Amino acid sequence: MKRFYNLLLTVFLVVSSLPMQANEPDSVYLFSYSTRDGVSGLRFAWSADGETAWQSVSGGYDYVKSDFGPWGSGKKMFKPCLKQDAGTGVWHCTWYVSDTGKAMGHAESSDLLRWSFQSYFTPDKVAEYMPSDAVAVQQASAVVAGAKQQGYMQRVPYSVVYDLIRHAEHKTYRAQLYAERAEQDAHRFAGLKPLEAKIEVHPDQAKEISTEFIGIFFEDINYAADGGLYAELVQNRDFEYLPSENPRDPAWGPMKAWEVKGSAAVEIAESSPIHENNPHYAVLSVEKPGAALQNTGYDGIVLKKGEKYDFSMFARKSEEGKGGKVKVLLLGDDGAKLAEASLNVTSKAWKKQRLVLTASADAKVARLSLEPQAAGDYHFDMVSLFPQNTFKGRKNGLRADLAQTLADLKPQFVRFPGGCVAHGNGIDNIYDWKGSIGPLEARKPLFNLWGYHQTRGLGYYEYFLYCEDMDAEPVPVVAAGVPCQNSGVPHRHSHDEVTTFGQQCGVALEDMPAYIQDVLDLIEYANGDAKKTVWGRKRAEAGHPEPFNLKYIGIGNEDLITDVFEERFLMIYDAVQEKYPEITVIGTVGPFYEGTDYDEGWELAKKYDIPIVDEHYYVPPGWMIHNQDYYDRYDRSESKVYLGEYAAHLPDRASNIETALAEALYLTSVERNADLVTMTSYAPLLAKEGYTQWTPDLIYFNNSEVKPTVDYYTQQMYGQNAGTHYLPSTVTINDHNTAVTKRVAVSVVKDEVSGDYIVRLVNMLPVEVKSEVVVSDDASPVKAVKTVLQGEPSSKTAKPVTSEVDLPGGSFTYTLPAYSFTILRW
Ligand code: AHR
Repeated sequence: MKRFYNLLLTVFLVVSSLPMQANEPDSVYLFSYSTRDGVSGLRFAWSADGETAWQSVSGGYDYVKSDFGPWGSGKKMFKPCLKQDAGTGVWHCTWYVSDTGKAMGHAESSDLLRWSFQSYFTPDKVAEYMPSDAVAVQQASAVVAGAKQQGYMQRVPYSVVYDLIRHAEHKTYRAQLYAERAEQDAHRFAGLKPLEAKIEVHPDQAKEISTEFIGIFFEDINYAADGGLYAELVQNRDFEYLPSENPRDPAWGPMKAWEVKGSAAVEIAESSPIHENNPHYAVLSVEKPGAALQNTGYDGIVLKKGEKYDFSMFARKSEEGKGGKVKVLLLGDDGAKLAEASLNVTSKAWKKQRLVLTASADAKVARLSLEPQAAGDYHFDMVSLFPQNTFKGRKNGLRADLAQTLADLKPQFVRFPGGCVAHGNGIDNIYDWKGSIGPLEARKPLFNLWGYHQTRGLGYYEYFLYCEDMDAEPVPVVAAGVPCQNSGVPHRHSHDEVTTFGQQCGVALEDMPAYIQDVLDLIEYANGDAKKTVWGRKRAEAGHPEPFNLKYIGIGNEDLITDVFEERFLMIYDAVQEKYPEITVIGTVGPFYEGTDYDEGWELAKKYDIPIVDEHYYVPPGWMIHNQDYYDRYDRSESKVYLGEYAAHLPDRASNIETALAEALYLTSVERNADLVTMTSYAPLLAKEGYTQWTPDLIYFNNSEVKPTVDYYTQQMYGQNAGTHYLPSTVTINDHNTAVTKRVAVSVVKDEVSGDYIVRLVNMLPVEVKSEVVVSDDASPVKAVKTVLQGEPSSKTAKPVTSEVDLPGGSFTYTLPAYSFTILRW
């Protein structure tokens, strides 16, 4: 295996330095096409005579793919037409985005390898996108790799084909490198003996680094909020679930998680709700006492013996009925009564009622039961049950164990509300922050694009409060006036022709002033004066007259960088800068570490001096091993970076020592650049077992347990040991094979507040590395805290072990165990 990789590397290096051969043709015919089902991107074949022997270019490599439409196979390219501008030499490609022929896409490129952003338009506009002075092309058909394809043919210098081939080869080579797995180590490192290393730290070259380096990315994905961090135990408390939110679940609708028992019937009504934002409520018609309306929570309610639970609901009797006493019970798994209290429902108007229930026993699958004691119609809404034991005891608070697990990461900031949830599935689904504050019954529930329902009980107020409780900076992210790039919802503004078809449709320009005002109001809500400003007053009314001291705002989330995006982003950016110059704006540069959105996003950032840009990449562990110089190459005079979403992804999406160490290893290189990369957050954060739309996640949980992954401990080891200064170091290993040297990494920081040195040592090799570590010439013995995360690469259960060790001084010997991440702190 090792030989195979070395051979591969040699072949690539040789090929990549090869000039074209003297006997290669000057010009050939280039055939461009996409497959008939539209699932491919733009592909090429070439032939010397334009008639026979068509050679597939790089086995059907897609040189540009359509970005129009929802995830994955929703993005299609039909009948691509490729033309070159005779004057500028720029290539233009137009295509149909669906087989209906109603909308088209366009992208351009100077070399057929790097492509511009894409525009979408109606076919009558195609002439605006194609050069008027184009090199002649001809419609043609060709048999490529045994299949007949329709496309366009033109004569080009052979160097064009040569570059296309080399480009694809380079990508393939890189993909093979990044696919390196620890399971191949037995072959890759066969015969490797324990190593020796010298690690020399240079405190004299210390540089200041960001003190917001490690944060968390909170998005309501995988039931992270409702049913997760938000401590509400009643599911669908507002009867607002809509069948359209989750068509795969036949039970999904206003009665989801509710059951009627005994002689009674329930109807969902909307004639006179508590609030227009919460239009549905339940009408329970009881024929005989003994009937009940019961809520089963999220697959059951967990109760703890002796703990108190705050129950509340809005209720009223019907116009004609008398109403009466309603018992409120908690019933155990076997139907046993675990708590009981009652209240009177005798008012004709909606009335909020509260009581406290104390559980008499533990239960894992309890239910809440509302049992009217007299026949008649009872109206119920906002039926709620919260443990009193929430994080920091807050009302409407957060699940204590989960919130504490996040707090234990010592996050220096918290991003919210996404992710894709921030910009939503279509513009009507953009996260409108105003709908997430105020009295719970007046909040606007929102469809969650991950396929469920957001009550938004955990809204912006609760978010700001949680940040404050953890001493973390809030980093809200608002949509840049465009929805998620993978939205499957067409544009509703038919007057805006250009964008009618695009998933990147964008808020209509005449609606942008109102949209921008909302963004400015969010900043006022966080920081505005409690008496003199409208939104500051609302914050004070919610219970927090002091400002939340917001410093950052993200605009956009890994959007397609298009003209539609750019126009709206700049409008918001300018307005924020003008009104709140003290707020640092974070822009966005697409969902990958390279490619069109990355290039275009960075161009925009440079042009408009965007202070920070948000980079996202989910990559294999091998990418992290082979890209430790990624940020070393960045120009320090440009925007700073927030690595807002990242994770090491294995093919089976497991989280194990291999992913945890790859992240630890890569973070040493990011920390080396923490003057530039000022913030990082792993993503996604939380996932409820059985309700997961995305893996891997940092922390899994169910109703009663929290299960941090191994990757969590990498984050925790960084978060709990943050530094203020980076101390460069040199690592010399007695084996110079790059496969070896790339798998050992060191990062040393100093925390000027505590005066502590913090040494991080990562070893992704199957052998120990005995190291002489020289941090300082101070020879006074010190007591250090050693934390080691170690295990077989496939281990999903490894946990860090912490102990105290005596060090002889600033220079010492330490042996890095095989497959380990160590932190030494003194
Ligand atoms: O982290 C999960 C998703 O990944 C986020 O919502 C989105 O921004 C990214 O594509």
